[in-house]
Amino acid sequence: MLTKDQALELLHKHTLNQNLRRHMFAVGVTMKALAQKLGYDPQEWEVLGLLHDADWEETKDKPNEHTKHTLNWLKEIGISEGPIVHALMSHNRKFTYLAELEGKMEWALETCDELTGFIVAVTLVMPDKKIASVKIESILKKWKTKEFAKAVDRTQIAQCEEKLKIPLHEFIQISLSAMQNHHEELGL
Ligand SMILES: [Fe+2]
Ligand SMILES: [Fe+2]
Repeated sequence: MLTKDQALELLHKHTLNQNLRRHMFAVGVTMKALAQKLGYDPQEWEVLGLLHDADWEETKDKPNEHTKHTLNWLKEIGISEGPIVHALMSHNRKFTYLAELEGKMEWALETCDELTGFIVAVTLVMPDKKIASVKIESILKKWKTKEFAKAVDRTQIAQCEEKLKIPLHEFIQISLSAMQNHHEELGL
């Protein structure tokens, strides 16, 4: 299985933008916490989070290729199947048609990918811009404000209730706590 060190090596090699790296760290720590909550393999879920946008810098102008580069890098190190590969295949399915969202790991990525961005947006409007100052109430208040972080698809995040059986409130708290515990890596 792909180790966290291997994932980090690929991530650092192919992603130079610090904010983009931090996005993957945020999704990684949230995925790990969700795996712990749901009884899955925390390392596997974290690795998926760390790699899910690893090829974004190379593919941002070629949406049909996003995830395909990462899948090729994995092939080069002998990994061409398994849960992480399948989940990566489903991540950009609207463009690649490689796989559908099926298991909990796929749905966790789908929902927390958007949520972590929303939490960062809420952090950045705090007076001290520190994630330590963010409370679940601050997030829920902004959630209801449609003009705030308009680009974040709330419906996508709220699918945690149906697909992961985690109430939205708890889902947000899991991600917030995970991100707060790793605030240094996230620059927050
Ligand atoms: Fe992506
Ligand atoms: Fe992402």
